[in-house]
Amino acid sequence: MTWLQAAHSALHPASAQADRVGRLYNFLLIVAVLVFVAVMVAALWAAWRRRPIDEDTSPARDARAHRVIFAGAAATVAILFVALVYDLALGRSLTRRATREMLTVRITGHQWWWEVEYEDPTPQNRVRTANELHVPVGQTVALKLASADVIHSFWAPSLGGKKDLIPGHHNELWFTPTEPGLYRMQCAEFCGLQHAYMALEVVVEDSKKFAQWINAQRKPAATPPDTLTARGKLVFESGPCATCHAIAGTSAAGTIGPDLTHIASRRWLASGRLGNTRANLAGWIVDPQRIKPGVLMPSNGLEPADLQALLNYLASLK
Ligand code: CUA
Repeated sequence: MTWLQAAHSALHPASAQADRVGRLYNFLLIVAVLVFVAVMVAALWAAWRRRPIDEDTSPARDARAHRVIFAGAAATVAILFVALVYDLALGRSLTRRATREMLTVRITGHQWWWEVEYEDPTPQNRVRTANELHVPVGQTVALKLASADVIHSFWAPSLGGKKDLIPGHHNELWFTPTEPGLYRMQCAEFCGLQHAYMALEVVVEDSKKFAQWINAQRKPAATPPDTLTARGKLVFESGPCATCHAIAGTSAAGTIGPDLTHIASRRWLASGRLGNTRANLAGWIVDPQRIKPGVLMPSNGLEPADLQALLNYLASLK
């Protein structure tokens, strides 16, 4: 389990929108290389043709020099103008909203994690999760971006540029993924101590896999299969966990921290800080301040037996 598997580069576009940005980049790069080569050739040629300064003082030479200077300035203006028009046209086309079969997801930035809510006209079909976004390949996804505290920034260069999440203001971003895979999204606006550990994984998958995933997420939490797991559920509901976290189908309904209804189905803990393993989860529950200093989650001095039961319960929430 590593972030290296997840693409995070504007040079590896995997959506229709990022692809167009990638083309603009390639165009500007090619133009810049051609201009560089032309300037170097002209400079070398001028050095080779060097003459003593007073050898030719005719008016024809001055006129020729002026023509060369004018041509150079005109070419510079023309190239920059083409780049400007291309850039503006691309910017406009990216902000033109597609409306066909759009999946709408609310993304709320928190210090320091991402709340993810899939909108649906039917309330039972809405899905709440955190730090992981699943989207079907080939379908346009609209993200409604908001913040619960300070300014954050959604930055998934392989999928769709960068956009800020601003308190009291709603921004939108949309992209049409073209390639299944894992893509990293990183907060790109300094938002406090753990800004660097505020990542989200975008899973682009075929529509069948996506349907399976979202149908599983719509279900309430699994019922504990044995007494130890049932004890873990009790620890969760009666302890401090339920103050901040929700698990659908139980009495835990906190909204301060991530929804944990299907926590075992996620690849990461603490917004990409840790891989989702039993040992990491235990360390995170007992002493989150050591792993992400400043995080809102307090330390939890649980009895060892309670901790093991709780870990069993959380591992059962597939
Ligand atoms: Cu959130 Cu930086």
